[in-house]
Amino acid sequence: MRRKVIAGNWKMNMLPGDAIKYIEELSGLVKDTENEVIICVPYTDLFYCISYAQDTNIKIGAQNVHFEDKGAYTGEVSAEMLKSVGVEYVIIGHSERRQYFCETDEIVNKKIKAALKNGLKPIVCVGESLEQREAGQTENIIRSQTKNAFEGLTDDDLKSIIIAYEPIWAIGTGKTATSEDANNSIKAIRDEVSVLYGKEVSDNIIIQYGGSVKSGNAKELFNTSDIDGGLVGGASLVAEEFSKIVNYDK
Ligand code: 13P
Repeated sequence: MRRKVIAGNWKMNMLPGDAIKYIEELSGLVKDTENEVIICVPYTDLFYCISYAQDTNIKIGAQNVHFEDKGAYTGEVSAEMLKSVGVEYVIIGHSERRQYFCETDEIVNKKIKAALKNGLKPIVCVGESLEQREAGQTENIIRSQTKNAFEGLTDDDLKSIIIAYEPIWAIGTGKTATSEDANNSIKAIRDEVSVLYGKEVSDNIIIQYGGSVKSGNAKELFNTSDIDGGLVGGASLVAEEFSKIVNYDK
């Protein structure tokens, strides 16, 4: 049985004072869950969130990482730097980064390798745009994004990776994929992992759904055969609402 992993992605929101209050509140609300709880926060909140999440069951992630170890890359943050402050997870290849910051599959692949080399666990995002969906290309796109992201990775590497299927048209729009649709896309991604790495790896890899997940639809989405939890944007910004998503099975 795969575990459920519920991750929040705050995106570019939350100043440290609010972040601290949030972690204090959330830790009480999710203390009894058996689901894994992750919050991916802006760089400027990492240190505070990691300090306040100590001795709780909340794990802290970053939202991006550079692929080089160090050097003249003004404004960038390396995997070693993230690791040094206690970061455990990092989102890689989010569609907002692919779209606004020109991240290609090749860059995503390099970032995954840098994260793994430094002991970080990547949450790798894949997902089709509305045009691609309407052109019937969903399965091809998500299979090729998965294959390209994992180029050169071993079976062992896959054990530290979570995949998040986030159809771009469902992000921040209030439009959620139906649970059946999301489950089918995730089955296709799982099948691609099976083609590349075999059944055992694909049976064990965690694949989340993301895109307008909220407390009202979490249960239906997470009770499907292949959706192993969610990557939650807007609804992760309020601790109480996010806790209801984490506690969808209570
Ligand atoms: P929303 O939950 O706001 O649609 O965002 C999803 C997302 O992009 C999480 O990474």
